[in-house]
Amino acid sequence: ELSPIDKAKFAAAKRAVDFVEDGMRVGLGTGSTAAWMVRCLGELVREEGLRITGVPTSSRTADLARSVGITVIGLDEAKWLDVTIDGTDEFDANLNLIKGGGGALLQEKIVATASDQMIVIADAAKEVSQLGAFPLPVEVVPFGWQTTKALIEETLVSLDVLGRSTSLRLNGQQPFITDEGNYIVDLHLNRIGNARQLALVINQIPGVVENGLFIDICDVVIIGQGDGRVELRD
Ligand code: A5P
Repeated sequence: ELSPIDKAKFAAAKRAVDFVEDGMRVGLGTGSTAAWMVRCLGELVREEGLRITGVPTSSRTADLARSVGITVIGLDEAKWLDVTIDGTDEFDANLNLIKGGGGALLQEKIVATASDQMIVIADAAKEVSQLGAFPLPVEVVPFGWQTTKALIEETLVSLDVLGRSTSLRLNGQQPFITDEGNYIVDLHLNRIGNARQLALVINQIPGVVENGLFIDICDVVIIGQGDGRVELRD
């Protein structure tokens, strides 16, 4: 028996795979909600002969996709995707997102941007009136990361952002390392007033590779409830 939160994630994932048609190239997101979607797609491939090609957004998702029978190719081989389905850490009324809690934001953003449509699957707890309670992940190159982190903090001061503390994401005692070999600095902001501006300014800082704000990328959010109902926002 699934917990209410897993029922909600599963319900959203199950509804999302309705958007996938035979022959499509599908971006496969990362995280526990996206994992449900990958399993649902695998079932359709194995049991109903659905022919799709998957482009995973992390090594974890690539392993899972292969294990459930989905053919996996790289983004450059696919060139362009019909749809990407992914989870999120937060979404707001404009369908802007904070992603990267699982550390896969860079590949996730590249893949979502290369897709005709991005569908986000989430439980209701991910909905916020203003983004920022979830720490904003910023992927930085390891070279000079402390200098980059200090520059990010200075930038937050100049933008008058309220919360300004930052932390290097750890995996035990060591820095967490992304699939691209980078580090992640989490920004504890509480509330982000102008997400579009923050996303642009942070990405101007040398050493920053990408940030977890997804602005104008998501087209549909499917919200799952603990009782199995779903709600679509677009
Ligand atoms: C991975 O880097 C993230 O962007 C995930 O999409 C996000 O953390 C959602 O994960 P859950 O579905 O596990 O909450």
